[in-house]
Amino acid sequence: MGAKIIAAGKYVPDQSISNDQLAEWMDTSDEWIRSRTGIEYRNISTDENTSDLCIQAALSILNKAAVAPEKLGFIIVATMTPDYHSPSVAALVQHGVGAGPVMAFDISAACSGFVYALSVGEKLMDSGQYEYGLVLGGETMSKAVDWEDRSTAVLFGDGAGGVLLQKTDTSLSLAEDLHADGGQSDALTSGFTQVDNPLKPADGSDPANQALTMDGRGIFNFVSRTVPNSLRATVEGAGMQLEEVDHYLLHQANQRLLKVVAKKLSLPISKFATNIRYYGNTSAASIPILLADMLEAKELELGSGKKIVISGFGGGLTWGSMLIQL
Ligand code: ACO
Repeated sequence: MGAKIIAAGKYVPDQSISNDQLAEWMDTSDEWIRSRTGIEYRNISTDENTSDLCIQAALSILNKAAVAPEKLGFIIVATMTPDYHSPSVAALVQHGVGAGPVMAFDISAACSGFVYALSVGEKLMDSGQYEYGLVLGGETMSKAVDWEDRSTAVLFGDGAGGVLLQKTDTSLSLAEDLHADGGQSDALTSGFTQVDNPLKPADGSDPANQALTMDGRGIFNFVSRTVPNSLRATVEGAGMQLEEVDHYLLHQANQRLLKVVAKKLSLPISKFATNIRYYGNTSAASIPILLADMLEAKELELGSGKKIVISGFGGGLTWGSMLIQL
């Protein structure tokens, strides 16, 4: 048993904010942001939470595939910015799209989340038990960042994207390589909640910092070290050469990182798809948004047999790659 992607889609909030607009709110500039990251715009939610973005993305995907929500067998959402600790975003999506009372759960693997979710979703499909499965990545990063911290606030954006899987007899993934190293977790944290109950002695300390913190240089070095190895391990694991892959769809964190990875693998930068310019870093949503945009622009076609590698990296620290055949 296996699975194929029969539709991809996305949803981003209406408000697209330019670097110049950000510069009106904080001490930054279009030149600083663009030259270091390649980002020019990001969508910022005014009142939609992660589940709202995911529901809109899911409805668009189901509509494109002309599949009724009642036919879904499971829903997985990758997110690091859920509406609640509980219920999961996936449970809210289940109700929001009008699916049956099916298994629905979130995956927390930050910017690697969509790759983790697709890997798990594919294995559920491999069981042969489900006809259709929905795999989404959605984030409202604007509620996670500290808007007083220009070193992180300018990098992120809000959005959701995903794919619909259908049962088939061939495998979606040809190889994968997924990892986490909690020993490096301090390099990127978000949403820390501390123990707080009547037994806790009052120590006069400040409440925990819940905002996103990031060691930008540290993450840059981590990605430059691990991602090229992960891409190589994945492609060679499928008995292929790096050049034989049609497109590399990496998590959209930074245009400079894409260049570093391409250079380390001696691949042309044209093999590395990018849309970071328009959305910023949307964490778990960035890869499915990129896939949806490429399909819409006819740069990719479902059922074409093209081989693409998706690769995510970020908080955890986590990283992971999958070679899939469309
Ligand atoms: N506008 C203007 N100046 C700024 C800004 C800003 N928004 N932010 C920082 N600066 C200043 C700093 O204060 C510093 O000034 P100083 O030299 O006077 O102290 C200067 O710019 C340089 O700052 P650096 O942090 O050294 O800048 P760097 O060139 O390293 O770029 C960046 C920072 C873009 C964050 C880079 O390190 C990076 O891309 N790292 C990777 C981050 C990433 O990819 N994260 C993805 C994972 S995220 C996830 O998983 C959720």
